[in-house]
Amino acid sequence: MAERLQKLIAQAGLASRRQAEKWIEEGRILLNGHLAKLGDRADLSIDQVQVDGQILASAQDKVTVLLNKPRGYVSTLKDPEGRRLVTDLTAAIPQRLFPVGRLDYNTEGLLLLTNDGELAQYISHPSHHVEKTYLVKVRGSLSEKMMKRLERGVELDDGKTAPAKVEKIRTVGSSCWFELTIHEGRNRQVRRMCEILGLSVVRLKRIRLGFLDLKDVMPGRYRCLLDSEIQKLKITK
Ligand code: URA
Repeated sequence: MAERLQKLIAQAGLASRRQAEKWIEEGRILLNGHLAKLGDRADLSIDQVQVDGQILASAQDKVTVLLNKPRGYVSTLKDPEGRRLVTDLTAAIPQRLFPVGRLDYNTEGLLLLTNDGELAQYISHPSHHVEKTYLVKVRGSLSEKMMKRLERGVELDDGKTAPAKVEKIRTVGSSCWFELTIHEGRNRQVRRMCEILGLSVVRLKRIRLGFLDLKDVMPGRYRCLLDSEIQKLKITK
């Protein structure tokens, strides 16, 4: 259905309707290659709208991005405390994205954001066992006994965790780095697993999700996943 251009631009999250009207008047909007004027309508399934030369994607177009989340961002769509949102980092993407699962405010690393509900459900569903690997830095050392406990599963207040993989990376001074691979996605799971062993987490970074990693994606940056990666994710374990 054809809609007024200012409505489409606002729906894409680029500007308010009033701002978009100003852009139309300023000649920043092209409709099918011609300068748009106030009152023009478009149907994004057949018409091409350009905002400052960039093609306006339809809000229905599916997109999934892999973000390297820095510390100090919340992975919810709103924050009553006014903290920065992960979606602030992907604001240039016109679609309304939502995070697939959560990373805590102080957890860094790989976070997917998408408008593809089916993909989000697939990844988050525990029965699909999508592996998530975290690089964990704890104060103190990780004994063999602790590693075994993490591997077998530890009792948390919401039940025992599923078997995990643990790999010690290095000990630096009084801290230890290790990788922990789990496939559940309970709230604050890694931190709680460590707490139960008396380990205090000083740094936590998700470095892999299924076959995806953070290669070439600097902190605070993102890249769009390829169709082939999305297809592969849907069968990933
Ligand atoms: N486990 C945690 O404790 N925090 C995260 O952000 C992710 C996994």
